[in-house]
Amino acid sequence: MTNEQIFFEIHTGISKEGPGDSVSTKKAFSIINDLPPKPKILDIGCGPGRQTLDLASLIDCEIIAVDTHRSYLTALEEKAKRAGLSDRIRAMRIDMNALDFAEASFDIIWAEGSIYIAGFENGLKKWRGLLKERGWMAVTEVSWLGSDPPEEAKKFWEEAYPAIRSIEENLNIIADCGYEIVAHFALPPSAWWDDYYDPIERKLIAMREKYKDDPEALHFIEAEQVEIDIYRKYSDFYGYVFYVMRLGAHASSVLA
Ligand SMILES: C[S@@+](CC[C@H](N)C(=O)[O-])C[C@H]1O[C@@H](n2cnc3c(N)ncnc32)[C@H](O)[C@@H]1O
Repeated sequence: MTNEQIFFEIHTGISKEGPGDSVSTKKAFSIINDLPPKPKILDIGCGPGRQTLDLASLIDCEIIAVDTHRSYLTALEEKAKRAGLSDRIRAMRIDMNALDFAEASFDIIWAEGSIYIAGFENGLKKWRGLLKERGWMAVTEVSWLGSDPPEEAKKFWEEAYPAIRSIEENLNIIADCGYEIVAHFALPPSAWWDDYYDPIERKLIAMREKYKDDPEALHFIEAEQVEIDIYRKYSDFYGYVFYVMRLGAHASSVLA
């Protein structure tokens, strides 16, 4: 088994592909105002579409949801059909680093748990041109929640995602990239556990038995377990943060 096969065995069949929850998606969307009728939304790295479906249920809109993994897009299409939301959602297999939509096409760009793939700063800069004047961007990014994280957590993230930054550093990057921060708030720990780490951890138990004679697979499985264990220990020190920003002048605020 390749690492990719093991990854998708772990990550197939769950409703989301990263920390996030409907309450936080709705809270972030509620901050956005001044939209035209039937706004156009680009959902980048949509995965199986948990947030896509939330957005489509909140407003009459046109969502283009992009991801590179075909089976996530198929899962999203099926769920949209069952929910009667297919007319609002188009799922497309497109690389976030090669988005060739016309300039100023979208009222909102949404990226939950995915901007890190393009790079936080790079994504903010590159995707900006796709937004209409005074357009909105809402992204989540794993961030240090305090100023002094414990060594073990720092060591883990130095390897897993060395670009992790504090909230303040990310707010500065957002401003430097020409956006105004309208709000930011940390996702609750339940957004990591419910429908994500909990079902993954249950799968890992069965997979350890299934791959007990495959050292490489076991190594990959244990790496997933370490990620979960580190979060269990240090969730006070890092988390996903929703950053809601807008092109053009707007007041800044921080939500609790
Ligand atoms: C951490 S998951 C987040 C998925 C979803 N937004 C959620 O919160 O459940 C990141 C997603 O980005 C997708 N992805 C990875 N590389 C990509 C790329 N270059 N372009 C578009 N999507 C990509 C993955 O397939 C995955 O679905």
